[in-house]
Amino acid sequence: MGRNKISVVGAGNVGATVANKVAEMEIGDVVMVDIIDGLPQGKGLDMLESAPIEGFDSNIVGAMAYEETGNSDVVVITSGVPRKPGMSREDLLETNKKIIDSVVGQVVANSPNAILIMVANPLDTMTYLALKRSGFPKNRVMGMAGILDTARFKAFISMELDVSIEDIQTVILGGHGDEMVPLPRFTTISGIPILQLLPGETVDRLVERTRKGGGEIVSLLKTGSAYYAPGAAAAQMVEAILKDKKRILPCCAYLEGEYGLSDICFGVPVKLGANGVEGIIELELTAEERELVSKSAESVRKSIMALKL
Ligand code: NAI
Ligand code: 2OP
Repeated sequence: MGRNKISVVGAGNVGATVANKVAEMEIGDVVMVDIIDGLPQGKGLDMLESAPIEGFDSNIVGAMAYEETGNSDVVVITSGVPRKPGMSREDLLETNKKIIDSVVGQVVANSPNAILIMVANPLDTMTYLALKRSGFPKNRVMGMAGILDTARFKAFISMELDVSIEDIQTVILGGHGDEMVPLPRFTTISGIPILQLLPGETVDRLVERTRKGGGEIVSLLKTGSAYYAPGAAAAQMVEAILKDKKRILPCCAYLEGEYGLSDICFGVPVKLGANGVEGIIELELTAEERELVSKSAESVRKSIMALKL
């Protein structure tokens, strides 16, 4: 049995971070592609030269041609411009639409059986675009956002309570925008509801910081957006798929009636395994939570309409 093959499109900040992480995890051989000649090749070789130090046997190469990505099991698509201070993720739509349009056809032509993990922003819209352009079934096209957003919420809770991040469980619903819906009611520290450990106002503050978490990093970096946590989040999805772990993780998936929504890619808890999105879990929400979800869905829907497909 050969090794799995993972391709990463876009060898920029997020792409290189995902590639390096999955190589170190030894879950497959890795190919990185980009349009800047030398960038994927140089980063790929540099990563390969770290293998003797880190002790991994995965092969990792950078290339310009999609033939190199042929027959990938999973393709992570990070190609796209990131935000600069003052920009919203929606401001990236026109530019990234063109990039995703050109990339998806080439990926699909070379890896017709792959599972696609979208990263480029605006995330839910780019996932929808990739699903439509690829012609793949809905279980094989998904987006990374919820793992990152829940990780941010968990990091803030851990700092506030001075407890291990390992003991924090939470769920986020909705689009990967400032209207995402962190759910304190489904947030626990080793099973203890967070609302028994922190005052409501504190939880509200952490929720708000989570919603704006991407922007917080952009305003610090000034030249781009976050990539360590996003790279780790995408790598966790690749691992769940290639190891058929059946993990329950918040991901952007195509909905057909779940949460009362259809024909939209949206953040929901999914079961991730060898077949990609193997199931979607529907939570029973309060009227207030439903209202927040529907507000988030409205803005994702508006963005999808702007694709003019
Ligand atoms: P970056 O600018 O560091 O890297 C993007 C790379 O894509 C560049 O190397 C560029 O040359 C390449 N590229 C552009 N057009 C291409 C094409 N047609 N084919 C192949 N490669 C192409 O940006 P970064 O920080 O890696 O972010 C990438 C995207 O991911 C952005 O759209 C950003 O907003 C998004 N993002 C999404 C997150 C999420 O939670 N879903 C988290 C972090 C970033
Ligand atoms: C983030 O949330 C930019 O979407 C990216 O960091």
